[in-house]
This record gives sequence, structure tokens and C-alpha cells, in this order.
Amino acid sequence: MKIVGLSGSLRRGSFNTALLRAASGLMPDGAELSVDTIHGIPLYDGDLEAAEGVPPAVAALKDKVAAADALLMVTPEYNNSIPGPFKNAIDWMSRAPAEGVFGGRKVALIGASPGGFGTILSQNAWLPVLRTLGCELFTGGRLMVSRAGGVFDAEGGLKDEAVKKMLTDYLAGFVAFVGK
Ligand code: FNR
Repeated sequence: MKIVGLSGSLRRGSFNTALLRAASGLMPDGAELSVDTIHGIPLYDGDLEAAEGVPPAVAALKDKVAAADALLMVTPEYNNSIPGPFKNAIDWMSRAPAEGVFGGRKVALIGASPGGFGTILSQNAWLPVLRTLGCELFTGGRLMVSRAGGVFDAEGGLKDEAVKKMLTDYLAGFVAFVGK
């Protein structure tokens, strides 16, 4: 089973990218999580799309998601909602040809924040977007990593054993959901 993981942060020291990297090392046997990125995706511009079509970085990411069995989205929270860069990437990816990218796609949503609520409002804000795209959201668990500053070490490694266990259990649940 192949799952594509996307972090919604461009930041080098991103907690969400660190969470995604940690997840790739905690996958159950038989499942593989590739760490992908929204780097290189321009701001959505209908004129650019009309003139040149979907940009190469978008097309490449769409192909990867379409070829995978599922998508893991690791979202930061900005102003109690979805970060613009991540929404922008998903908006681009939803443009034609979008066959096989989101419709019926099994998706899981997790996130990390230095605050106390661990991206709960951002995760909620994604719900109408994922419904519009026709995704099948994994609802068998939730993972909100709060106080992320104390959860990762200076190199971005996941050092908190309780979070590691929650992430491992979450991924096992997601993989079982995808395999059904
Ligand atoms: C934030 N941050 C933030 N955190 C949160 O838990 N709730 C929020 O509403 C916000 N709002 C917010 C707005 C803006 C514009 C920024 C830049 C940041 C803090 C945010 O969680 C923090 O910067 C994380 O480190 C971002 O994720 P990465 O880059 O570490 O993955």
C-alpha cells in the first residue's frame, strides 16, 4: 500500500513536516508513506492556467496522489483555519484534469501546533473542502499534536513517546481503513 503524505507548511523547521517525517517511519508493515511537499506550487492564477494549463509542480503532485492508495494531509493552523499555502496547493490540484485525484480518495488529516489545541480548528475547516472534493475522510481517529515545541527535538525528531504511540495507532487505523 502506497500513501502520499503532504505537509501544509513550507517552513524548514516545520512541526507539521516533522510530524509527517515521523509518520513515514511508523507505518505498519506493508504500507509505505512518501513525504511530499507543496514547495514550488505558484499562487493559483486563472490567467496562468488559461495560458499554460496546470503548472508542472502541480501536475507532478497530482500524478503522485492519483497513483497512490491514499493521501495523508498534515495541516498547520493559521488564524483558526486552513493555511493559505496548503489550500492553494489543493485548489490547484483540484483543477482539470482532476480525475482520480480527489474523488473517492481516502484521506486522513492530522496536524501539529505549538499552541494548546493542536490544529483542531484547522482540521475542522478542511471538512467542507474535503466533502466538496468527494474525498473519503478517515474518521476512525483524530490526531492533534499540541505544544509541538516540546514534542520534537532540535533535528525535528519525534521525541515524545506518548505522541509516538498515538501516531502509530492512528496510522494503523488509517491503513486498515484504506485496505478495506
Ligand atoms: C499561526 N499559528 C497558529 N497556531 C494555532 O494553533 N492556531 C492559530 O490560529 C494560529 N494562527 C497563526 C497564524 C499565522 C499567520 C501563523 C504564521 C501562525 C502558529 C502556528 O501553529 C505555528 O507557526 C506553527 O509552527 C506552524 O506550523 P509549522 O510551520 O511549524 O508546520
